[in-house]
Amino acid sequence: MSLQTSIIKNIHNQSNIVEAKNDISIIILAAGKGTRMKSNLPKVMHQVAGRPMLQIVIDEAKKINPQNIAIVISAEMQQYQDEIIKNNPDIKLNFALQLERKGTGDAVKMALQFLQQTKINIAKKILILYGDTPLLTASTMEKINNQLEAIDENNLVVLGFENQQKDYQQSPYGRLVITNNKLLKIVEFKDANDEEKSIKLCNGGIIGIKNNKPLELLNKINNQNASQEFYLTDIVAIANKSDIHCSLIITSPLELLGVNSKNELAEIEKIKQEQLRKKLMESGVTMLDPSTIYLSCDTKIGAGSIIHQNVVIGNNVEIEEEVEIKSFSHLEGCKIKSNAVIGPFARIRPQTEIAESARIGNFVEIKNSKIQALSKINHLSYIGDSHIGENVNIGAGTITCNYNGFEKFSTTIENNAFIGSNSCLVAPVNIGNNAIIGAGSVINKNVKANSIAIARSRQEEVENGATKFKQKYTKTNNSKK
Ligand code: UD1
Ligand code: MG
Repeated sequence: MSLQTSIIKNIHNQSNIVEAKNDISIIILAAGKGTRMKSNLPKVMHQVAGRPMLQIVIDEAKKINPQNIAIVISAEMQQYQDEIIKNNPDIKLNFALQLERKGTGDAVKMALQFLQQTKINIAKKILILYGDTPLLTASTMEKINNQLEAIDENNLVVLGFENQQKDYQQSPYGRLVITNNKLLKIVEFKDANDEEKSIKLCNGGIIGIKNNKPLELLNKINNQNASQEFYLTDIVAIANKSDIHCSLIITSPLELLGVNSKNELAEIEKIKQEQLRKKLMESGVTMLDPSTIYLSCDTKIGAGSIIHQNVVIGNNVEIEEEVEIKSFSHLEGCKIKSNAVIGPFARIRPQTEIAESARIGNFVEIKNSKIQALSKINHLSYIGDSHIGENVNIGAGTITCNYNGFEKFSTTIENNAFIGSNSCLVAPVNIGNNAIIGAGSVINKNVKANSIAIARSRQEEVENGATKFKQKYTKTNNSKK
């Protein structure tokens, strides 16, 4: 076996992500304290584009079809375990508890010991990921897997990057010490001398291991260093001593950006938003001012749709083709079908479906409602827990009164009905086909199909009453003077 280190440039072409399960176990380290986040929420549960960072890492990891995934968590993370399992029904996730934060080497050991104790098969290859590095792509993970595979014997793969920061000597990454094209060791920043600090090639943290007895390697790591931690990175020097081949894959520093503070979280959010927008624009979505449009990881928008400036799209939104979303609209948990027009200033809340060519205008809030094709709710309305048929016209200021302080009730408005402006529909209530509701009505009884319902006090008129009223007052005032 050659001891030469293979240095591979990670070119971002489409990798061959295979369907069958890869003989690889993935370990995600997520037990860090995240002290610098200054938050009660564990670091890896902070969201990027509407999704916890840890979930983004799991999503990418799943794309390479691993045999299993083990997540190393701290005690504070235990309360999120059920939620994480529920959000990943397609794969068995194993949670290894690291009660004391003794370093990345110790964390990996906890995962391997847990898998062993619970009789879960540890695959021939192991890929170690970080829960706070959400920009790493499945395609890079697959390259590490392929490199581990390419060498028959036990071997290691380290993912590195070239530090392009101006003050790179001060950046706190592990340095990759390479001599004669061979990766000798990784020196942590805190332990590095000035010469080592001036090395631009840094450790991204992600490491692949192919070893029949990985725990044997990990057991050789000690904590005699500046941090008194068990550094996973020491595994490189240990491997070299045992004649185990070490390869280095170099990838873009962007992919390896990690989150340690709220500022870094905002930086990653910015990059993720740019990536999401770019992908949608490439698929045929028009964005009038992309940098003002906020998307979620799961946002789906069909080709030919136009998104105007200042639109926020939360989780679980599906927008079909040729839809127009006008400025200052806020959407979450909804489906907007083709040719619908939404906004400006519309708020569409979860469990809402807006059908083809419907029109939702300004200052309209819709919650848990189905609006069928060609219906119009153009101004200043609240529609909640409702079913609105086809071609219904809802006048300005219509409110569905769906809540009595204790319970929610639903409203149904059938096809072709017309609701006059400033009406209150007190649920539960049903407005039949073709019915008309007079403006300003408070409707609390069902209205039959084809009827007109008016529920407001009758208007009375006294002819010339205004003139007489004014005359009376002018006379009295004059007599007082
Ligand atoms: C690590 C690497 C460093 C690399 C850098 C890249 C080590 C010793 N150093 O340093 O070479 O340049 O990443 O970002 O590996 N964690 C646990 N349990 C622990 C300690 C850490 O689960 O006991 C988790 C953290 O939650 C985090 C990951 O491991 O997801 C990395 O830990 P972190 O403390 O951020 O390592 P760095 O100091 O950044
Ligand atoms: Mg870190």
